[in-house]
Amino acid sequence: MNLPSINPTATEAWNKLQAHFSEIKEVHMMDLFKDDTKRVNKMNVSWNEFQVDYSKNRVTDKTISLLLQLAEEVGLKKAIELQFEGSKINKTEDRAVLHSALRDFDSMKPEVKKALQKMKKTSNAVIKGTWKGFTGKPITDIVNIGIGGSELGPKMVTNALKYYGNALKLHYVSNVDGDHVSETLKKLDRETTLFIIVSKSFTTQETMTNANVIKNWFLQGGSQLDIEKHFIAVSTNENAIIDFGISKYNIFPIWDWVGGRFSLWSSVGLSTCCAIGYDNFEELLRGAHEMDLHFRNEDFSENIPVILALLSVWYNNFFSSETEAIIPYTQYLEDFVPYLQQAIMESNGKSVDRNGSKVNYQTGTVVWGNVGANAQHAFFQLLHQGTKLVPIDFIGFSESLYQHKKQHDILKANFFSQSEALLQGTYKQNAPNEFRSFNGNKPSNTIFINSLTPKNLGSLIAIYEHKIFVQGIIWNIFSYDQWGVELGKKLTNQLLSTS
Ligand code: F6P
Repeated sequence: MNLPSINPTATEAWNKLQAHFSEIKEVHMMDLFKDDTKRVNKMNVSWNEFQVDYSKNRVTDKTISLLLQLAEEVGLKKAIELQFEGSKINKTEDRAVLHSALRDFDSMKPEVKKALQKMKKTSNAVIKGTWKGFTGKPITDIVNIGIGGSELGPKMVTNALKYYGNALKLHYVSNVDGDHVSETLKKLDRETTLFIIVSKSFTTQETMTNANVIKNWFLQGGSQLDIEKHFIAVSTNENAIIDFGISKYNIFPIWDWVGGRFSLWSSVGLSTCCAIGYDNFEELLRGAHEMDLHFRNEDFSENIPVILALLSVWYNNFFSSETEAIIPYTQYLEDFVPYLQQAIMESNGKSVDRNGSKVNYQTGTVVWGNVGANAQHAFFQLLHQGTKLVPIDFIGFSESLYQHKKQHDILKANFFSQSEALLQGTYKQNAPNEFRSFNGNKPSNTIFINSLTPKNLGSLIAIYEHKIFVQGIIWNIFSYDQWGVELGKKLTNQLLSTS
């Protein structure tokens, strides 16, 4: 069954939002807070260990109700069901989109269960040291060779959950930059390193080039027969893996109904599973599944991904904001923004609608950011006093993992005061001069979470996955293909064949 295909600009809600925008565009949020003392309580969703405060947005109750009407009019409810039921909603590739099925332990497909069991067995053997290298030594280092979704998700999660890690050292090689490969290899011992080649297609130029360079490096010490103790592959392309020389026992599956940028929950996450152990990996999946249930069942007015998506549409399509920033207040999430850049921009960077017509409205936002407090000393000047309107998601945690109370209080004070400063500016205060005046009225969401556990991280990632989906439905585009990356690949190959 097809996704509904409705031009959002032709809906009643869109037209009403347009009229409403002219009423609200000059209103200062400080006045909205003054006029409605219940605003903070109303524009807040409390869910599991998450507190999502969206009161610091340039919206009123009327805006929210019109945005919710927009979600109804474009058929979001039906679209959500089609996705979870496994309809082939990735129509241009004729595929279902079922990364949610990778974390649904209650009704798990047998092949997913089997793959998880294999991940459990393998990660346990590597962690416990019963997986031996070709000279009988245990594994000390793992190198993930992959690019895009075959690297960004696993690398982000492995680093985010370092606290839960074991003694294994993880390395990620993605770029087809020989120097980077050499820098990585120079620290490694062939006898104690395990290489995981992750490529859904097993044809990606960067990954296959690096994999071959690394295999040749390995063969300078080990033999062809030793490859089975040191190389694993995660892919759909079994024949290419066998041709590469990897034993069939070392093949981990991935399926065409899992998009690369949504694949960290599958065997693509094997490096993470080894780094943090299977139990933590399962917790990550369970956290994501709980968010899936929230997204699927909760009323849109209390539905975290739906609300965040609608607010983003409000700024993108009515305030003409071109970008949005994401600022996590924890060093552990330093790879979160690059990961989201692929997930969001590869999904919603489209300009043809689901009817095949060119769109005449803005779609995917540009996403950027970095960790706080560092970002405050880098680009926050522009956020506070620049000419561009950049809606922000602040992500913070109530507790530090090592219980650094005093330092964490400072980090949290920064987290809360930045969104407050962006809201208030020097509103109705006398700034010493215009150079020191701040307009304020800059929107932000604060996503405040108890602590950075595997489960909470799973839920957080799933929030953004579903936000992407909701926005794709509203913009009437196909979020799950990525034809836009093909032309560049073709021209690279042409250039190489003629040089
Ligand atoms: O070129 C983009 C892309 O296809 C991404 O969507 C994907 O995550 C990445 O390349 C890697 O692809 P593969 O896992 O097939 O090597």
